[in-house]
Amino acid sequence: MITDVSRLSLQDAPAPADLLLLFGATGDLARRMLMPSLFGLHADGLLPADLEILGTARSALSDDAYRQWVREALAALPSDQRAPNALDAFLRRIRYAPLDIGNESAFAGLARAAGAETRRPAIFLSTAPTLFEPTIAGLHGAGLAGEQTRIGLEKPLGHDLASSCAINNAVRSAFDESRIYRIDHYLGKETVQNLLVLRFGNSLFEPVWNGVHIEHVQITVAETVGVEDRADFYEAAGALRDMVQNHMLQLLALVAMEAPAQYDPTSVRDEKVKVLRSLRPIDRAGVAQHVVLGQYGDGAVTGQAVLGYTAELGRNSTTETFVALKAHVDNWRWKGVPFYLRTGKRLPQRHSEIVIQFKPVPHSIFGDGRSALQANRLVIRLQPEEYVRLHVMAKEPGLDRGGIQLQEVPLDFSLTRRLNERRRIAYERLLLDLIEGDPTLFVRRDEVEAQWQWVDGIRAACAAANVQPRSYTAGSWGPAASIALTERDGVSWHE
Ligand code: BG6
Repeated sequence: MITDVSRLSLQDAPAPADLLLLFGATGDLARRMLMPSLFGLHADGLLPADLEILGTARSALSDDAYRQWVREALAALPSDQRAPNALDAFLRRIRYAPLDIGNESAFAGLARAAGAETRRPAIFLSTAPTLFEPTIAGLHGAGLAGEQTRIGLEKPLGHDLASSCAINNAVRSAFDESRIYRIDHYLGKETVQNLLVLRFGNSLFEPVWNGVHIEHVQITVAETVGVEDRADFYEAAGALRDMVQNHMLQLLALVAMEAPAQYDPTSVRDEKVKVLRSLRPIDRAGVAQHVVLGQYGDGAVTGQAVLGYTAELGRNSTTETFVALKAHVDNWRWKGVPFYLRTGKRLPQRHSEIVIQFKPVPHSIFGDGRSALQANRLVIRLQPEEYVRLHVMAKEPGLDRGGIQLQEVPLDFSLTRRLNERRRIAYERLLLDLIEGDPTLFVRRDEVEAQWQWVDGIRAACAAANVQPRSYTAGSWGPAASIALTERDGVSWHE
């Protein structure tokens, strides 16, 4: 696939933006994530002093009406994220310009509102992907895509490789790759970034981080929510495209990548893309052993009765709300190591974690029975808690008259927050990086395309083998077949 990748290092970092142009400014993401994140950065004095925020969307709002909308969005924040003293100054940064994206000539008005000729804008597109192409054309035509401009793109970036390439080509016609910032908000999560430091900032793990010492890897992203008010979007996407193609594969790439020579945008992303390109394709013959799809039925989650997916949707559907996969990375390091991936909606708990299961010791000097040894396990919990926990064997205290007793104890590398430190929203990190021009935590075109290639292959294999999602009770850990997927290999999901 076409890939143009410019060499980039942090030394080339451009000047910070002085204008953030936000498309989709009245949307759900802006209300729940973007405005709270920008406000958090502002309140902590992290936004450039001269940064203005220009929101744009179809609704005909005045600056004041939009500021009121922002005020209401921020009023819904938990108390530790409200900073009443900072609110007025934040609102003064904000202006609004209505825009009909379908009308190319209307972009001239947007450019006037932006005062673009004197500015260094960062643009954030949080709109339906069908609007990306006309938006890019409009920005280009109105002179808003100059050399100083960076553009952030929110997912979904297409629904398969071909549509993703079409979007990437349209964006590339106006912005070179070094100025395109594709967002995967998982990369903005603190513990996800910490994974790189854990692996490459310690000498302890790297020598055992391979198929000689690791038996398997599990990556789980479990959600308790259903499809909420996004049923139409979700129905056309499903868990494979909504979660595996992006967040899960980015986590896998960070776990499996080789050490980059430096922590810079090119080196890190070069290593991730090698992993993504080494994923073993799952074909029709492999589907039965490697893929389980599920769809939630009626049930109860955290004590609340909930409807099944099709009842919420109001019609029949074959869209999967759960997927479990057995993947392999075909390279030297990961020879023979399965990566079990699992994600789903309406599961019993919200938790995202990576489990590295090490192999057992080659011979137990303690014998079997009550003193049986457990193999070491490293658990990297991304949410709701954030910790890294290494499970090791220790002796039970005592005089051992009945023989030595062993117990598994956790060594906790908890990222315990300093007192009063607020847990940041992933978008705070990503918006600040977009504003300041650091693309390390954004997804490069070749990565997105490798991700789509693998996922498209699975979808085609499922279609050819007529794999349908199996029903699971809302509030359970997915269909029984997901348990069988790992148990066949003598492995249990970590719960
Ligand atoms: C989004 C998906 O990308 O990630 C949603 O579209 C999902 O369906 C969300 O709920 C999960 O993000 P987080 O940060 O809550 O784990």
